[in-house]
Amino acid sequence: MSRLAYGGDYNPEQWPEEVWHEDVALMREAGVTMVSVGVFSWARLETAPGVHDFGWLDRLLDLLHAGGIRVALATPTVAPPAWFYAAHPEALPVTKEGVRYGFGSRGAICHSSAAYRQAAAGITEQLARRYGKHPAVALWHVHNEYGVPVNACYCEASGEEFRSWLRARYQTLDALNTAWGTAFWGQHYGDWAHIDAPRVTPTVGNPAQQLDYARFTDETLRGNFIAERDILHRLAPGVPVTTNFMTALSQCDSMDYWAWGREVDLVAQDHYLITDGRRTHVNLAMAADLTRSVAGGAPWLVLEHSTSGVNWQPRNPAKRPGEMARNSLGHVARGSEGAMFFQWRQSRQGAEKFHSAMLPHAGTANRVWREVVALGADIGALAGIAGSRTMADAAMVWDWQSWWAQNLEWRPTEDHDARERADSFYETLYDRHLTVDFAHPEADLSAYPLVVVPALYLATEAVGQNLRAYVEGGGTLVVSYFSGIVDEHDTVHPGAYPGALRDVLGLTVEEWSPLLRGERVRIEAADGSVLPADVWTEFVVPNVPRGAEPVWTYADGRAAAGPAITRHQLGRGTAWYISTRLAPEALDTVLAAAAADAGISPRDDLPRDVEVVRRTGEHGSYLFAINHTATEAKVPLGAAGTELLTGERAAGVLAVPPGAVRVVRAD
Ligand code: GAL
Ligand code: ZN
Repeated sequence: MSRLAYGGDYNPEQWPEEVWHEDVALMREAGVTMVSVGVFSWARLETAPGVHDFGWLDRLLDLLHAGGIRVALATPTVAPPAWFYAAHPEALPVTKEGVRYGFGSRGAICHSSAAYRQAAAGITEQLARRYGKHPAVALWHVHNEYGVPVNACYCEASGEEFRSWLRARYQTLDALNTAWGTAFWGQHYGDWAHIDAPRVTPTVGNPAQQLDYARFTDETLRGNFIAERDILHRLAPGVPVTTNFMTALSQCDSMDYWAWGREVDLVAQDHYLITDGRRTHVNLAMAADLTRSVAGGAPWLVLEHSTSGVNWQPRNPAKRPGEMARNSLGHVARGSEGAMFFQWRQSRQGAEKFHSAMLPHAGTANRVWREVVALGADIGALAGIAGSRTMADAAMVWDWQSWWAQNLEWRPTEDHDARERADSFYETLYDRHLTVDFAHPEADLSAYPLVVVPALYLATEAVGQNLRAYVEGGGTLVVSYFSGIVDEHDTVHPGAYPGALRDVLGLTVEEWSPLLRGERVRIEAADGSVLPADVWTEFVVPNVPRGAEPVWTYADGRAAAGPAITRHQLGRGTAWYISTRLAPEALDTVLAAAAADAGISPRDDLPRDVEVVRRTGEHGSYLFAINHTATEAKVPLGAAGTELLTGERAAGVLAVPPGAVRVVRAD
């Protein structure tokens, strides 16, 4: 990908062919460079089992190619045709409650269905053979958003595959019984055949079984992706393969994207603003940072976002003027090699006709269209940044599997939410103008001066050792409560809490005491300053003789007079522990103290909601400044350079108009 991609999902089968010519002309006007084609086209490409109609796609790809527009060609395997389900009703997924979904939407797939796998491989092979060398095809777009709208299936075939998966994982029934703790509530298994997917049970089901089912589901979907990918690699070598992730934690919770990131040639994500009153640009930045991290820091691509409102939330506001460009270039700042949308031309029929598009129902006499054309020019002006990498200041440890485990039932309080903690830590760092990489708990963290661990309930011994090595080597670590409690089977680590992290934090936790609804406590520093906290308190006991030091102490509540926030000097580094839930301002106070330990100087010169991010590469260093406020922002520049969107010289302090984006290439 030598320049940035600009475009969107293109569903030409919804339109008569004459419209395609207008489409290509308008795409050129808007600066479109790439479109995703065929995501839902299976029924039009294979009209009956083994009967193919490629004529229309041949003509379309030739037309796009003649127009200089490249294609991310999809395998249409998210939308099997009606004839497929008529022959294989068993391929429709079954919910945990035992309801079998019907045809008439999309994504109704049991990923353990042999018939589905065979049919998906068939159409993938046909496409690879026919279009693998087509000059328009720049990228394969496999399937669509694995894990959404259906992830787990609870049918017979899925249960059967789960049993095989467990046999491979545990080898013996003894090992499975031990891992699942089946001695509890009389769940011992004496025969593999008696093991099933988690069912609807009278009260809480076995947590280790549920966690394994989540892993099995994730691996099953990934296996289906890999099968398609391998066909494409074999029959169409040289064309990179991607699939669109949904890394925003609010949009897909069932895929372990650390593992997925290793399987794709190019990491891609879809991102939609959740308009529930929170700061949508912060959530966007977090998803973009997480995507870049899943890509191992390499460039990635936002394959779908929206030009304006969506149609699937309870209320779907239009984007404000300039908001689309701030969103798109926000992704680019954080490593995306362009900006793609759902979708090119707004549909007149079907479930998504009220979802915004690049070319709205009204056509070109429309604000959205004008902004789409302007953004195309901006993306064109940024061509030189392709291949450069976003520079991070700190890291946040994140693990999907720990999140799954933490979300199971019967935890000490229902008010604690791992995602909420991750969001809150991220937002605090964002407001400090720190760019954050995410890291798997076993990743090498030594490059980061500061690493925060919002809520890592599931952490193996190996994770404990990794965090310890990071601190001993000179890092500054901040861990929040309910971390390091269980191993990979949701089994509590032996001894006192937090088993895997006692050493690195220099303390034990004798007992938790979550707060009642609405209850608050105060924590107090030696200088008498007080911070509010809620949801969770603990009885923290520093190790002796060389343990953690209390920095803030509970001023009231059940843990009154005990340590609330501690600091432990270990080797060349420092490990902080936050034993309660801090609201943003309080969390900021504590993270600022930790950042000082880490030698990170505060950026008090940057206003709130002015995002400043740097990409660096062979061809230069690029400073992105995104002004999310309604007033002009002043951004100090380290080095003078050229502002790429206006072509003006920039030196000293850069003025960024209200709502605008500026990108300065340093000289
Ligand atoms: C995505 C999906 C697209 C479209 C879009 C609407 O999740 O991949 O096909 O439905 O949502 O926002
Ligand atoms: Zn199934």
